[in-house]
Amino acid sequence: MRLVLIGPPGVGKGTQAGLLKSRLGIRHISSGDVFRAEINAGSELGSLAQRFIDAGELVPDDVTVGMMARHLETKDPHDRGFVLDGFPRTVAQAIALDAKLEPTGQCISRAIAIEVPDEILVERLGGRRMGKTDGKIYHVAFNPPPPGVEVITRSDDMPDVIRERLRVFHENTRPVVDYYRDRGKLRTVDGMADLEVVYAEICAAMYQ
Ligand code: AP5
Ligand code: MG
Repeated sequence: MRLVLIGPPGVGKGTQAGLLKSRLGIRHISSGDVFRAEINAGSELGSLAQRFIDAGELVPDDVTVGMMARHLETKDPHDRGFVLDGFPRTVAQAIALDAKLEPTGQCISRAIAIEVPDEILVERLGGRRMGKTDGKIYHVAFNPPPPGVEVITRSDDMPDVIRERLRVFHENTRPVVDYYRDRGKLRTVDGMADLEVVYAEICAAMYQ
């Protein structure tokens, strides 16, 4: 299964991709996580990306596509497929991804759009915390970290940056939903339910 998870910031892409990885053994490739790892490593790519991320803007397409292409080339020993989280988020990225996968015969099987109203997203991102060592996703109220686990807040989870990320989603990434709909690959899932209910809906949508 080769999945794309599409949705606004805070909708639960990372949470659900983490569950798909741990339960189905498929690779989880998050463009945001790759950028954050580059920032932590102090690389040139990281310092370029950081300016855009901290402002809530998209990293330029050529940079993002090049980076994701390198990650997709990494050999998967189990060959169970992958879930892409946060990529593609422009139509140009979606076209580049299809062009990359087409010669391999391993095209995207499903694009799953997760939907949640913007007001709820602001609340989710305001309460999000990440495990300091493993990057695991928690929420102070909805999914609290176990006692003793050290957590951090993401630098782009500030109210004004959250608003900009939502604006950028509606302007640049909504058309990606139409891109997959036009190709018969889109399925939509309600992201308002409990984590496990959303997970079950995603699993069902994979084969519908
Ligand atoms: P990225 O890291 O992809 O961030 P994002 O898209 O803004 O999404 P988030 O990671 O904030 O949210 P999520 O949907 O993963 O939600 P989560 O599971 O954490 O990108 C960051 C930046 O990198 C971008 O702004 C851009 O600058 C750059 N970038 C990345 N990809 C790029 C690309 N392709 N092109 C250009 N630039 C790119 O959940 C959120 C919270 O809600 C958590 O606290 C969680 O516990 C809680 N939660 C989740 N599900 C539920 C539920 N069902 N009920 C209650 N709470 C829930
Ligand atoms: Mg995420």
